[in-house]
Amino acid sequence: MTGLIPKQFIVDLVERADVAEIVGRRVQLKKAGKEFKACCPFHDEKTPSFTVSPTKGFYHCFGCGVHGTALDFLMEYDHMDFVDAVESLAAIMGLEVPRSESNNQSRSYDSLFELLDRVSVYYEKNLKSHETAIDYLKTRGINGATAKRFSLGYAPSGWNNLLNKFGSSKESIDRLLATGLIIRKDNGKYYDRFRDRIMFPIRDARGRTIGFGGRIIGDEKPKYLNSPETVLFHKGRELYGLYESRQALRNIEKLVVVEGYMDVVGLAQHGIDFSAATLGTATTDEHLNRLFRICEEIVFSFDGDRAGRAAAWKALQNTLPHIREGRQIRFIFLPEGQDPDSFIQENGPDAFTTALNNALPLSDFLIDELTSKLNVDTVDGRARLAELARPLLSKIPAGVYKDLLTEQLAVTIGLPPHRLEPLFQNNSAEHGKRSHGNRTKIGSSEKNPSTGKPSIVRKAITLIIHHPASALQIDIERLSGNTRPGIELLNSLIKAVNSEPKITTAGLLERFRNDAEGRHLGKLAATELPGDDNFDSVAELRHCLTQLELSARRTRIETLIDKQRTHKLTSVEKTELRELTKGP
Ligand code: UTP
Ligand code: MN
Repeated sequence: MTGLIPKQFIVDLVERADVAEIVGRRVQLKKAGKEFKACCPFHDEKTPSFTVSPTKGFYHCFGCGVHGTALDFLMEYDHMDFVDAVESLAAIMGLEVPRSESNNQSRSYDSLFELLDRVSVYYEKNLKSHETAIDYLKTRGINGATAKRFSLGYAPSGWNNLLNKFGSSKESIDRLLATGLIIRKDNGKYYDRFRDRIMFPIRDARGRTIGFGGRIIGDEKPKYLNSPETVLFHKGRELYGLYESRQALRNIEKLVVVEGYMDVVGLAQHGIDFSAATLGTATTDEHLNRLFRICEEIVFSFDGDRAGRAAAWKALQNTLPHIREGRQIRFIFLPEGQDPDSFIQENGPDAFTTALNNALPLSDFLIDELTSKLNVDTVDGRARLAELARPLLSKIPAGVYKDLLTEQLAVTIGLPPHRLEPLFQNNSAEHGKRSHGNRTKIGSSEKNPSTGKPSIVRKAITLIIHHPASALQIDIERLSGNTRPGIELLNSLIKAVNSEPKITTAGLLERFRNDAEGRHLGKLAATELPGDDNFDSVAELRHCLTQLELSARRTRIETLIDKQRTHKLTSVEKTELRELTKGP
């Protein structure tokens, strides 16, 4: 949806917004020099480590690592999604959010949404007239009210139902194809994707149908068929049942994350109205961001078999970077062979609530899982435990939680915590500067392998993020021919500043928010630079560029000399080498 709002509007919006005012509406700020300080609203603390910089348009907590622009603050603090945050900030500033730029696209999406809704209604109607489908749901313990709440439907057998009903024109056939409802054969004919299946419409945050899951009534394969990835439907982002949970409850305290459609529906049938299912994929960062925007407590409840346990472990690993003070992450392990649906059908809601209350905290699961494979009574076993724990701990943002977990591990290993901490420390220090490991990294965040220091490119990027105006003094030509990781991002940053000379840190972050290379720039903005008045960012940046130039020259010289050894150099190359080795 972000594509619908012109980027320039968003950049201008955060440029004009006063981040201290936005934060100050919710948090008591104290002036400290050019900045403001407060006790961090995102974790528990007694001494303030939360800083807001009006000139940068940026906030940052040195304790728990949260950071971002006014928009990030609204998203985090008010649990909004990005578009809502833009609208809310615009409203505070008395501006209207323009949607014109991509109007065409939004209109064509509108017709896809409309089609999906009509098809959903069609499936729902079909359910009412198909005894076998109704009986199937009854045998699974689902009553009419629950079916209605989830708009469950039935896709009749036959190959051309949708085509006949919704595909009268070329455009309407294109829409059926674009939403994945029909499939094109090699001979140019089409057929319905979903046949003789119970249909589960998948809704987005606004309740619009974006895709379907369909369960076979008999024993054929595959058991479930899902809509393919389409412009509206991205499996790694969506959670089945989240919309319905938000409809059912005004205030969601916790969310149970399950694996299957029927788990969500089965739980709801017994009054557990706060669950959502990942759609046959592992829990992604996008899932977790969405979930934590809604509530602070997530309980994973996977199947009680080996695959379920493996899925839970995967979920744990993906959740580590999302740990914050105040957030709770726990795990339910059901008896072997049970999933949440079968468990609640068999044992009733009270038993599930008990399981929910006894859910295992993430820290316990982590330690149990690691120690289950080792003998911690031996020195080797304890050393191995420390080794296994290290990469996991390094994913957790610095803060009280991480300290507690380290302590708990120390007890298990039988070492005093102060002996254990150094084992984990180098990684956690890196953590603040690096992305959480699993996604695209800022190319320049690679460290220089020979010195172990952050690379020059990274330093240059950090300088520009902190002091955008310093890039105005830079001759971009100096970077040409340099191929180090991150150079392109550095180039784009310099260009961005030169086309908007007054841009702030926040403006740059918004400009690069959806950029594959640049979306982690916030982490660099959150690193500390020497803050004193003598710090000359222009000189520092020039120095970086000189070093980059020198290193590019060195590389080029080496390449030419290498070539000279094995091949002949062209006359142009000879001249170039002579020029290069002449010195600056
Ligand atoms: P399960 O195989 O655990 O099924 O798949 P289930 O949820 O218990 O279903 P019932 O109770 O037999 O009806 C869990 C989830 O994995 C995806 C679906 O999202 C399903 O809900 N899945 C499973 C598929 O996409 N395709 C399949 O063939 C099977
Ligand atoms: Mn099941």
